[in-house]
Amino acid sequence: MLILGIETSCDETAASVVRDGRDILSNIVSSSIAKHAKYGGVVPEIATRHHVENIDTVINRSLKEARLAISNIDAVAVTEGPGLVAALLVGVSCARAMSYGLGKPLIAIDHLKAHLYSAVMKDGGPDFPFIGLVISGGHTRLYLVKDFNRFELVGDTLDDAVGEAYDKVAKILGLGYPGGPVVDALAKKGNPRAIRFTCKPVNNSLDFSFSGVKTAVLYYVREKGRIRKEDTCASFQESVLGVIVKNTLKAMETHKIKSLVVGGGVSANSRLREMMQREARYRGLKLYFPPLSLCSDNAAMVAGLGYRLYKYRGARVTWEIRYDN
Ligand code: KG4
Ligand code: ZN
Repeated sequence: MLILGIETSCDETAASVVRDGRDILSNIVSSSIAKHAKYGGVVPEIATRHHVENIDTVINRSLKEARLAISNIDAVAVTEGPGLVAALLVGVSCARAMSYGLGKPLIAIDHLKAHLYSAVMKDGGPDFPFIGLVISGGHTRLYLVKDFNRFELVGDTLDDAVGEAYDKVAKILGLGYPGGPVVDALAKKGNPRAIRFTCKPVNNSLDFSFSGVKTAVLYYVREKGRIRKEDTCASFQESVLGVIVKNTLKAMETHKIKSLVVGGGVSANSRLREMMQREARYRGLKLYFPPLSLCSDNAAMVAGLGYRLYKYRGARVTWEIRYDN
């Protein structure tokens, strides 16, 4: 079954064709990231305009690269949320029109669940249940995943998302946007124990809070004036990743789960991968990270999860978005 995936939730306009939820025939991403750099974060108006101007080209390229005509597509899957509403509307409207015009099913996809799917797409997925850790620019969430249709939220951030904290710290240090990859790289040259930035689980729960540590970095930089950026990055990173690892392991212990699936932009982080791999070896856990090519926003994960959901729910040709997942 050939599914065309469309993703426009934030600053990437993406389209992809995936066969049977697994084989990526094309994966086209047009990013507006460079246009946001001087503002230090995503400007919704700029992101949306980029989608409007590029969506047709991106979809055409994804079909061309897959060597398919639009009539060969069996269904259209589109990100329906969460994300910037005007940005989502571009993809959703386009997918709706295509589905209606072609008379093919339309599958509405949750962006965060698609991020998790990107980690398991290649080998068809781990056994259920697993703990899913979503770490992106907009979310930090722990899910107990019973199957691709049943996600139970067990931990969430009460304020900033972890990627957002990386981006804000990068802004404080004048490192540009997006901050995650730069902080990750600089931290490799720094001492993670140089500065104590405290970041703890909220009230001993599985929830997170990252606004305090970001403010601590701001005050530290203001107070000290001249600082070693490498040490600041390494110390900040160690404290936030420490909490992420701690809460994730606690979620796995609480629910007696041995498999962990990680997804979202921050899953590209090299130190997090190291820390998780060490814990997984020590505790005998199975660990699934996406390939680096699928960590940031893309439509292959949307088309892939679309296939799984379509299989669960059976065929139903509709041109209406289904909001029931
Ligand atoms: O999933 P994503 O592409 O977009 C959202 O759905 O939000 O995530 C983007 C986030 C940004 O905050 C970016 O700074 C962060 O992922 N990021 C990283 C790394 N690469 C990207 N954070 C830490 N380390 C990285 N290597
Ligand atoms: Zn994302």
